[in-house]
Amino acid sequence: MIDDQKQLGIGQAAELLGISASYVRTLADRGVLTSATTAGGHRRFDERVLLNEWAAFRHATPARPGWSDAFDLAGLDESFVWGRMRDEVGVDIPQNAHGILAYAVTEMVNNAIDHSSGTLVEVSAAVSDRIIDVRIADDGVGAFETIRKGHGLPDAGAALVELTKGKRTTAPDRHAGEGLFFTLRAVDYATVSANGYVLAASQAEGTDRFASGSSRNAGTVVTLRLHLDTDRGLTSVFEQFAPVDEDGLGGFTRTEPRISLVTYSGDFISRSEAKRFAAGLEKFETVTLDFEGLDLIGQGFADELFRVWQRDHPEVELKVAGASRGVRLMIDRARRPAGD
Ligand SMILES: Nc1ncnc2c1ncn2[C@@H]1O[C@H](COP(=O)(O)OP(=O)(O)OP(=O)(O)O)[C@@H](O)[C@H]1O
Ligand SMILES: [Mg+2]
Repeated sequence: MIDDQKQLGIGQAAELLGISASYVRTLADRGVLTSATTAGGHRRFDERVLLNEWAAFRHATPARPGWSDAFDLAGLDESFVWGRMRDEVGVDIPQNAHGILAYAVTEMVNNAIDHSSGTLVEVSAAVSDRIIDVRIADDGVGAFETIRKGHGLPDAGAALVELTKGKRTTAPDRHAGEGLFFTLRAVDYATVSANGYVLAASQAEGTDRFASGSSRNAGTVVTLRLHLDTDRGLTSVFEQFAPVDEDGLGGFTRTEPRISLVTYSGDFISRSEAKRFAAGLEKFETVTLDFEGLDLIGQGFADELFRVWQRDHPEVELKVAGASRGVRLMIDRARRPAGD
C-alpha cells in the first residue's frame, strides 16, 4: 500500500521538490539525483533517496544570488532580521505566505540566538518563479548535538527523531519546543542540517514526510522553501496540529505526530531501545509509527512498546503504518492478550 507511493515518476518528483520536471531530469542526468529506468523507459525515483539527495545538493549549493546578510548573534533581535529581509528581498508577499515566513524566519533566527552558542547567523533569500528559498545558517554547536546532550540521547540521529515528535526543548524555562515542529510543517519543504545529519521535511500532498541523510556543514543550517501563492496559512497549520479547545486553550498535546522509524538510528531490537524511543510520546493523544523501510523489529522492542509502555499509557493511541509482514507479526504478538 505504501510501496507504490515510494517510487515516483518525474512529474511527482518535481512536485515533491518544488522544481520543474526538466530540472529534475537535468539533475538526474548529472547524477545528482538517482533514478532507475522502467522497462518502458520511464524514470522512477525512490522518494526517500530523492529527498536525501536533494537536501544534500541544496546544502552543497549556496543560495542563488538574491538577498543575504550576516548578523552578530550577541544582542540580536529576530524580528529585526525578518524586517530587514522582508524589506530588502523586494517582492510582494501575499498575506498568508507573509505570516508563514515571518513565523519561520523569526523562530529559526531565535533558535540561533538562544540555543546555538555561536557568534554569527547568515541569512539569505532568493525568489524565483514565485518560490522563495531561505537559508539560515549559524556557526554554533549544531541543533542535533544540543538536543542529544539536553535529553541524554546516544547520538545525533536519535536527536533528529526527537525533533519530529515536537515539544522537545532543551530550555524548558523559556521555551516550549514548538518552533521547529511548526516551522517544518508551515513551509512547503525544509531541511535542518547539523552534526552530520540532515532532516528533510516535505508538506507536498498535505502530509508530513521526513527523510534523513548525512551532511557536513558546521553549526546548524536551516533551509525553507515556500510558494508565495500558497493556500496554506499559519492558522491552519496550528489548527491541524494543535486544535484549540472549546474553552480557548491551545492544546498542543493534541498534535498527532507521525514518526518514521527508519530515520531513527536504532536496531529496534531491544527493550532499552523501545524505552528510549518512547520517551516523550505520552505527551500526545495519537502517535502514528511509520515502519516503512524496516523489515523486522525485535520481540523485546515490540513487547516493551506495544504492551508494557502502552499498558502504562493507555490514554495514548499508537497507530501503525507501513508495517511489513514481519513487523506486523511482532506487533500483533505484543498486543495479543496474555494467555492467547
Ligand atoms: N540553531 C540551533 N542551534 C542549537 N540548537 C538548536 C538550534 N535550533 C534548535 N536547537 C535545539 O532544538 C530544540 C528544539 O528547537 P525548537 O525551536 O523546536 O524549540 P525551542 O526553541 O526549544 O522552543 P520554542 O521554539 O517553542 O521557543 C531546542 O530546544 C534546541 O535544543
Ligand atoms: Mg525555538
